[in-house]
Amino acid sequence: MAIKSIIKACLLSPVVSAAVAKPIHARNASSFAEAQKLADPAYGPIPGESPIYNSYLGVEAPFPGNLRDPVLPTKEGPPATDDIVWQNLLEAEWIIFDFYQKAVESFNASDFIKVGMPNNTYQRIQEIRNNEAGHLRIFQNQISETSIKPGACETQFPYYDPISFLALVTVIEISSMAFLTGLVQQAQLSSSQAAMTAIAEVESRHETWSLIEIWKTNPFGGPSDTVFPYANQILDTTNAFIVPGSCPKLNPEYPSPRQNLPSLSAAKNTTSLLPGSNIGLAFPDPTNQPTFANGTQYYAVFFHGVNNVSIPIDTTCWPKQEIRVTIPAQFDTKGVVIATVADTKGAPTKETIVAGPGIILEQPSALSVKLL
Ligand SMILES: *[C@@H]1O[C@H](CO)[C@@H](O)[C@H](O)[C@H]1NC(C)=O
Ligand SMILES: *[C@@H]1O[C@H](CO)[C@@H](O)[C@H](O)[C@H]1NC(C)=O
Ligand SMILES: *[C@@H]1O[C@H](CO)[C@@H](O)[C@H](O)[C@H]1NC(C)=O
Ligand SMILES: *[C@@H]1O[C@H](CO)[C@@H](O)[C@H](O)[C@H]1NC(C)=O
Ligand SMILES: *[C@@H]1O[C@H](CO)[C@@H](O)[C@H](O)[C@H]1NC(C)=O
Ligand SMILES: *[C@@H]1O[C@H](CO)[C@@H](O)[C@H](O)[C@H]1NC(C)=O
Repeated sequence: MAIKSIIKACLLSPVVSAAVAKPIHARNASSFAEAQKLADPAYGPIPGESPIYNSYLGVEAPFPGNLRDPVLPTKEGPPATDDIVWQNLLEAEWIIFDFYQKAVESFNASDFIKVGMPNNTYQRIQEIRNNEAGHLRIFQNQISETSIKPGACETQFPYYDPISFLALVTVIEISSMAFLTGLVQQAQLSSSQAAMTAIAEVESRHETWSLIEIWKTNPFGGPSDTVFPYANQILDTTNAFIVPGSCPKLNPEYPSPRQNLPSLSAAKNTTSLLPGSNIGLAFPDPTNQPTFANGTQYYAVFFHGVNNVSIPIDTTCWPKQEIRVTIPAQFDTKGVVIATVADTKGAPTKETIVAGPGIILEQPSALSVKLL
């Protein structure tokens, strides 16, 4: 039951709970001064050269995850071409790094063995944590010297035991893969696009590991993972993992630009999120509800693989009566389906989306069926 509620919570929109919320590191003047050294890309271990980003097996946060302050620009001038995209990615990466770092600090090798996981699970989590630390450093170095490199906010995640953590791993990794398909479209330099593709490939290896070793399932995700062009909308849902008011004051808005759309979820009594399931839509944040104009036809737009499918929805009696829709039955049960509500068929621009996105995990189907 415990897993059930966690999976349900994170399937469509991350819900904050009070798990593991202790700050990783306090900030002070000397830590701020040390973080400024990160402005030099040659400072500290180099990703692709140092073993720290691969095989470090300590509990303490590895470099540069131990230096959580923002890094100030060292030159005046306009931002370089892709600085904003890399800043968004760095802020997202701090959340993902913390997700793994907190697991490394909260669990030990026997915790995973006790719940029937392979005896190297804790080590793999440490290795993924190390890869994510390498991403922090790579993204810092991609931001030019005229732009700030954002620091870490404090984070909280809705896991409280090894299994609920591992379920979130699967959702977070595949969500990273999906938002990178959008971010790569915002980047203008082909070198940025190549670097983002290389990062997405690493997240895909993490996902594949969890499918094979943790869930003992077929690792293949269909002929294409899901393309979602509006990356900032997925990034925005990760604000649920940030402790409100905890971000460094110098950080830019996250994500930038931010639409702050109502979050989208499945109704509480949903029993299946497999293709073909008829579900009720829910907008779980009471302070951020959608508005539906009279006389406008709205659609649930579902993204899967490289395609999307729009289903007209009846919003006329909402909120008195819930909005119901069927997840397109033609989708295979691989990877994820990304659900949105839009005022235009096919959601051709980000402005046409009025709620969401919600991430529906289809693989392993055991997570979406058995645990719901
Ligand atoms: C300040 O931060 C540094 C680096 O994180 C740490 O080593 C030091 O103990 C901290 N000092 C205080 C007074 O908290
Ligand atoms: C692992 O952590 C558990 C608590 O979660 C503790 O009871 C156990 O002693 C720890 N095992 C080792 C080998 O440190
Ligand atoms: C870990 O598991 C593997 C595969 O099940 C086994 O061969 C190995 O002996 C185990 N190692 C330890 C230290 O228990
Ligand atoms: C969930 O509740 C709605 C009414 O709010 C109902 O129409 C729907 O059939 C219920 N679904 C399930 C699977 O029980
Ligand atoms: C839509 O029309 C109904 C009456 O038919 C009215 O109560 C409601 O406020 C209108 N909603 C909006 C968003 O204009
Ligand atoms: C959704 O699919 C339609 C039809 O193929 C396409 O025109 C539209 O651009 C797609 N929407 C997005 C956001 O990619």
